[in-house]
Amino acid sequence: MNSIRTVKEIIEPLYVMEGAGVLLRRSIAPQASNHFDPFLLFDHFAFNDPAEGPIRGFPMHPHRGIETVSYILKGSVNHRDSLGNAGYIGPGDVQWMTAGGGILHEEMPHRGPDGIIDGFQLWVNLPASQKMSRPRYQEVSAETIPVFEMTGCQVRVIAGIVGNIRGPVTKIAASPLFLDVRLEIGANFSLPVPEKHTVLAYMYEGTGILGDTEVPSVKMAVFSDGRQIEVRSGDSSVRFMLMAGVPFREPIVPYGPFVMNTRAEIEQALADLRNGTFIQE
Ligand code: FE2
Repeated sequence: MNSIRTVKEIIEPLYVMEGAGVLLRRSIAPQASNHFDPFLLFDHFAFNDPAEGPIRGFPMHPHRGIETVSYILKGSVNHRDSLGNAGYIGPGDVQWMTAGGGILHEEMPHRGPDGIIDGFQLWVNLPASQKMSRPRYQEVSAETIPVFEMTGCQVRVIAGIVGNIRGPVTKIAASPLFLDVRLEIGANFSLPVPEKHTVLAYMYEGTGILGDTEVPSVKMAVFSDGRQIEVRSGDSSVRFMLMAGVPFREPIVPYGPFVMNTRAEIEQALADLRNGTFIQE
């Protein structure tokens, strides 16, 4: 097998409405085919026009069986949940939430001083053995995310290892790599990645050359298998999110904010919500 991964698919995000009417760019969404195993969903929310009106956010909703990862570039998100946790995710901050057996939460985005909100939400699957685990948060403030630097490259390492730098998010079943990469004009970035891991790159600024494929901004690239990725910038700087993780290769049944392994487990989640037994003490 060629050790350098090529781009096998470029996904154009679809605009979708979520929550109380929030417009998002969605590149991948949970599907029974589990094509991007262990990744389930990737949303890019970007509001930069006050004419879009007030941002109504995501009022109380449940999650079970997954992890949701919020990463904010500009603006902020206020968060609170049914377990009494509350927090603020500001520019450069990350919240890695393991919903496990269940939480109900609210996520309310706010514009930054320049009127802009920009950020991402990634959903990572949990293996069957951890779907009903105790909910857990890893909240990482911008200052504590380490940066790997190489000529023309700056990489914020949120989870996983780049060079000798280890990201602060740990003990995640998918062994993920979650990076925010910036390349100056004419820079090269290469990184070893484990074979068989699913690797995705979401370009959000500039056009990157991934392997030998040009990927323009606001597109998701899916890499083929291999042991290494190589990304170059051309005559503009480039920013992208890089995600890698080990596939669990288990059947999944997605249903709205739940992703379980069987239909019966989805029925159980719905019954728990109806009966007020969704949150496990
Ligand atoms: Fe949520």
